[in-house]
Amino acid sequence: MNPSPNLFLIGPMGAGKSSIGRRLAERFGLPCIDLDAEIERRTGASVATIFEIEGEAGFRRRESDLLAAITTGAGMVLATGGGAVLAPANRALLRERGFVVWLQASVEQQLQRLARDRKRPLLDTPDRRERLEKLALERDPIYSGLADCSVGGAGESCEHAAARIAALLETQWRRPPMAKEDA
Ligand code: S3P
Repeated sequence: MNPSPNLFLIGPMGAGKSSIGRRLAERFGLPCIDLDAEIERRTGASVATIFEIEGEAGFRRRESDLLAAITTGAGMVLATGGGAVLAPANRALLRERGFVVWLQASVEQQLQRLARDRKRPLLDTPDRRERLEKLALERDPIYSGLADCSVGGAGESCEHAAARIAALLETQWRRPPMAKEDA
């Protein structure tokens, strides 16, 4: 088996992909890219504004284009947005170009962590629980089918979760030699 040049984090909103991604990147001596933040940086508009002006379809096009461009690189930790796995072409890229880790979170944990969030357009709804349950129902099979490994949230801090995941990855992720030496 060839080493996987990148580490890709997938999972629902509020699973801690960005925070855990930053810590894992530090641990492995790699740069961390946050796909949503990168879309915002390049467009100069927030995800919410893009949804508002171009609709979800417009956002998904930007997400797919950027994912395809970014993943041509090697040696990165990439935190994806929760819906980045929806397009089959995105899944193919993620599968081919990296080791995919599914960060799991229960709806309860998501509700707690995102209680004060006003930036996510999909949570702009009167019944967040119902929305998150529906998304989980649709997406969990997709995350599961794509992931090389999955990590359940134990209600711990991102720091602890990252340490636990890093230990797991030491045994499961075959990194390219250069990234390994830097760690
Ligand atoms: C989305 C998740 C968000 C962001 C957008 C859509 C989704 O990213 O990409 O609001 O479809 O689940 P996070 O998972 O980082 O919150």
